[in-house]
Amino acid sequence: MKIAKNWKDYSIIATGDGYKLERWKNVYLLRPDPQVIWSASIDMWHYPALNAVYKRSSKGGGEWEFLKPMPAEWEIAYGDLQFKIKPMGFKHTGLFPEQAVNWDYMASLIRNAGRPIKVLNLFAYTGGATVACAKAGAEVTHVDAAKGMVERAGENARLSGIESGIRYIVDDCEKFVRREIRRGNRYDAIIMDPPSYGRGPNGEMWKIEEKLYAFVRLCKEVLSDRPLFVLINSYTTGLQPMVLSNILTLCMRDYKGTVDAYEVGIQTEEGIPLPCGAGGIFVNDD
Ligand SMILES: C[S@@+](CC[C@H](N)C(=O)[O-])C[C@H]1O[C@@H](n2cnc3c(N)ncnc32)[C@H](O)[C@@H]1O
Repeated sequence: MKIAKNWKDYSIIATGDGYKLERWKNVYLLRPDPQVIWSASIDMWHYPALNAVYKRSSKGGGEWEFLKPMPAEWEIAYGDLQFKIKPMGFKHTGLFPEQAVNWDYMASLIRNAGRPIKVLNLFAYTGGATVACAKAGAEVTHVDAAKGMVERAGENARLSGIESGIRYIVDDCEKFVRREIRRGNRYDAIIMDPPSYGRGPNGEMWKIEEKLYAFVRLCKEVLSDRPLFVLINSYTTGLQPMVLSNILTLCMRDYKGTVDAYEVGIQTEEGIPLPCGAGGIFVNDD
């Protein structure tokens, strides 16, 4: 498991009974987490500093309950990167902190490449990976179906001091990749963080188990002659690292390189790591 351990503005204080208690700089949130099937060792619901809880509804979904005054949105730092945090629908805050392990690794590959790198970030959300790669010197194309998320990625980039080098696209990822293939545009690195289930801006259906393999094969067609890496991240429960490893191994057979796949997690203050999905990366060693 790769553990995100360089955070100062974020920590997980406790976990249990389907919830995790997190500190986002000075704000304390209690959010559901399906992996947490053990009992809590403290009474997280009455944690003195707790600001807000995302309460699950029996009809599905849920809503935020605010317990103590807190800003509507605020900023947190990860090294020299800055992100805006805001409690949103579907228990989201606008950032997946465990992704820091992937940000650090991709940034080091880009910095050590010794050549200009063009990155395509698909299902790119609020731009955690976009900002990390752009800060490392890459030119990034950021694609997501949700206009609000793409706008927030722009804000995160500006907060992080990045004024240029990012192209923002609101589109269905598959449609965009097909268009780039036709236009002859090529990228040295591809990142994708597809949801289990999702829809493009015109209702295009995405189901990870039906689409992922064919989509990675399609993406190979937008790779440059000398790709640097292809990274897939997934939060889909049951999708094991070895599945990502197999997909990358099968799809990237024509290139010389190595595939690594791993669980992604965050160390909690209770001394146990919280699993947060899986990552897989192909790195070209030509
Ligand atoms: C799990 S989030 C990605 C998290 C992000 N990479 C990060 O680490 O911060 C999935 C994203 O995929 C987008 N999405 C879902 N279906 C899509 C589609 N067909 N085309 C483009 N984006 C899509 C959603 O809007 C959402 O922002």
